[in-house]
Amino acid sequence: MYESFFGFTAKPFQLNADPSFFFGSRGHKRAMAYLEYGLHQSEGFIVITGEVGAGKTMIVRSLLERLNPNRVVAANLVSTQVESADVLRLVATAFGIQCRGLDKAGLLLELETFLTQLAAEGKRALLVVDEAQNLSVAALEELRMLSNFQIKDHALLQSFLVGQPEFRQMMRSGQMQQLRQRVIASYHLGPLDAGETKSYIGHRLKRVGWNRNPQFESAVFNQIHAYTEGIPRRINALCDRLLLAVSLAERRVVMVQDATDVIAELQEEFATNTPTPVAININDLALDRLQVGGELLAEAAKLSGNLETRRLESRIVGVEQSIGATLNVLTQLLQAVQRQPQASLPASQPFPEDHK
Ligand SMILES: Nc1ncnc2c1ncn2[C@@H]1O[C@H](COP(=O)(O)OP(=O)(O)O)[C@@H](O)[C@H]1O
Ligand SMILES: [Mg+2]
Repeated sequence: MYESFFGFTAKPFQLNADPSFFFGSRGHKRAMAYLEYGLHQSEGFIVITGEVGAGKTMIVRSLLERLNPNRVVAANLVSTQVESADVLRLVATAFGIQCRGLDKAGLLLELETFLTQLAAEGKRALLVVDEAQNLSVAALEELRMLSNFQIKDHALLQSFLVGQPEFRQMMRSGQMQQLRQRVIASYHLGPLDAGETKSYIGHRLKRVGWNRNPQFESAVFNQIHAYTEGIPRRINALCDRLLLAVSLAERRVVMVQDATDVIAELQEEFATNTPTPVAININDLALDRLQVGGELLAEAAKLSGNLETRRLESRIVGVEQSIGATLNVLTQLLQAVQRQPQASLPASQPFPEDHK
């Protein structure tokens, strides 16, 4: 809509991961270098993690686009909640293998035959699993088993596991020990710093033919960085709104006031989407039922003395989405220990103290 007003050839801040917009920030280049290294090794796993919107899918797509299909045959699997029984089928399908009616043994055989055939043709096989935090432990174990396929001492499959930060936690768990041993490199993709945020915006604008129209007051970039914390997806969303607002006002300069207004607008929208915290009076909680140490209990008791619930609630509204999610979990926790009217407790229900 604002493209024609500013004379752009396309929308500069689309939310899809279009490799033709790829911006090589320090982090993005580094992650890419790890993946390229993995390709070179052609065995084991490379793990890339990063916040939602950090640019993981963008990196993977940019890399896949550059691969020579005569050298590397890649399968890209975006996992939803995948159970172990389905994962082999999904991998096989992603490689274009017909697998209808095959049981697990049949699937494994087909996959091994396929991978051996590729190796015989001098090609490498690459499996990319995006949103890997959705995989169950059992599904990950199936993937590990696939990495066992070998000819002589050459592995037949190289895998990239790409996921949100919780995937890093999953990988650290005891159950993942064997998979961890197959990881040849891992990298956590962080956000853009302030300078990179500005260059990123300039890069995307130039890609659609920006020619200093609109101009930006220099402090606007700091506002964008502060609000988005350098996460590309959030930068795109904010810049898109900002350009729309400025074009609707028929101006050719993006001003600090515009950014202030659009950020306030986004915060307000977010606030109405935030689940309202359940009104809980901390004095109504049976904190003695929490299985925690004395020190924490004493801290909580102090809280109840001076908690200004309303003020706290109004400050909570409008905080970042991540904090909202954390609050939700906390709220549920608090609800769990909220004192129930004594009458509604079954007479026989013991409190932990009863056993002392
Ligand atoms: N390096 C980059 N260059 C250009 N655009 C990027 C880059 N990284 C992320 N983006 C943009 O940010 C948005 C989110 O990126 P995406 O790769 O989908 O994030 P993730 O997979 O980490 O959740 C997309 O619109 C994408 O175009
Ligand atoms: Mg993604």
